[in-house]
Amino acid sequence: MLKVINVVGARPNFMKIAPVIDAMNRFPERIEHYLVHTGQHYDRKMSKAFFEDLGMPRPDIDLEVGSGTHAEQTGKVMMAFEKVCGDLAPDLVVVVGDVNSTMACTITAKKLGIRVAHVEAGLRSRDMAMPEEINRLCTDVLCDFLFTTDILADRNLIREGVPEEKIHFVGNVMIDTLLKHSERASKLKFPDGLNVKPGEYAVLTLHRPSNVDDRDTLVGVLEALSRVSESLPIVFPIHPRTEKMVRRFGLQHYLEKQSPSGGFRLIEPVGYLDFLHLNMNAKMILTDSGGIQEEATVLGVPCITLRFNTERPITCEMGTNVIVGNRKEDILSAAERVLAEPGREYQVPDRWDGRAADRIVQVLLDHDAQ
Ligand code: UD1
Ligand code: UDP
Repeated sequence: MLKVINVVGARPNFMKIAPVIDAMNRFPERIEHYLVHTGQHYDRKMSKAFFEDLGMPRPDIDLEVGSGTHAEQTGKVMMAFEKVCGDLAPDLVVVVGDVNSTMACTITAKKLGIRVAHVEAGLRSRDMAMPEEINRLCTDVLCDFLFTTDILADRNLIREGVPEEKIHFVGNVMIDTLLKHSERASKLKFPDGLNVKPGEYAVLTLHRPSNVDDRDTLVGVLEALSRVSESLPIVFPIHPRTEKMVRRFGLQHYLEKQSPSGGFRLIEPVGYLDFLHLNMNAKMILTDSGGIQEEATVLGVPCITLRFNTERPITCEMGTNVIVGNRKEDILSAAERVLAEPGREYQVPDRWDGRAADRIVQVLLDHDAQ
């Protein structure tokens, strides 16, 4: 019996671990698995709502670490997770993505001599000012199984000297979840009072510290988006970090503009299914998220990424994504191009086919049998 701890901590982890849990559940006689939530995200709308939407089991253990500086949060996860590893004595820890919890649990498990598998390995933005890039590098250098979403990630790992036998190109678990739920999501209605029509609005998400933690940068971004919203209403489920910064800098007035044909539709973060429904009906997506670039690729919705780089370049090579940075004129001209064009050609990357988690579990079982 292979004893596994699956780890989640923040919003983008839930949709990645859900299909892995489903795939593990198909082998009850061979895999015993536990779900540990670090509590990095804790608001209902950033955490519990996803367990309900995705039909996931509640975590077996919640470390309840909450927010803090990077060192505080990482340290608290490590201390609490070390105890859990001692109590459960797993054969393997599975981590996903690139958040602080991912790195913290990897370091903790490895120092206890426990093998670690990283789902979504090998992504690189080459931007060391991004906390996630540090998390990705530390995690990948330590892990025993590196499960990648595309061949560009394989190439990154090989260039860094990772032995090939550790790398497994399995596809994209986030897309497993999207494909599983898209029919259900397509049947939903827009959240009450949104006042938008299919194909006639944009969706916006914004939470990278490089966009929202500096007042001048955030003002520039909001000014550009206000201009875009004169031609197209922008639905904006605001991330708690961004909500806090908008209030701290006194910038609420930018988001209060509203008319039937434009302005912002400011809402709280929405659940997975509502968000998927919003995205699949959007004219365009404006975002600085990592995962949303991938979801837009599969949905074929034009995506304007408000960052200077991406760890997911395949979404630009094959999909509808463009990287425009965060300067006002660049955001505006990218949005104007989308509004003027009839639609974009796009392809879906290899193995983004709904079966990534099955491939992951097969690799783990084959290894266990050796
Ligand atoms: C984290 C991840 C980021 C990921 C994002 C997904 C790191 C370094 N960052 O960023 O990679 O893209 O999650 O959403 O791991 N807050 C709440 N309620 C919550 C959670 C957070 O109010 O449930 C607020 C707190 O004020 C907190 C701030 O948001 O200080 C930032 O939270 P944190 O988890 O540190 O980073 P995120 O910006 O959410
Ligand atoms: N998401 C959601 N509701 C929202 C915003 C995002 O369900 O209001 C989902 C989105 O579909 C994707 C994931 O959250 O599956 C992306 O998480 P986020 O942007 O917070 O993190 P990142 O991918 O940047 O690390």
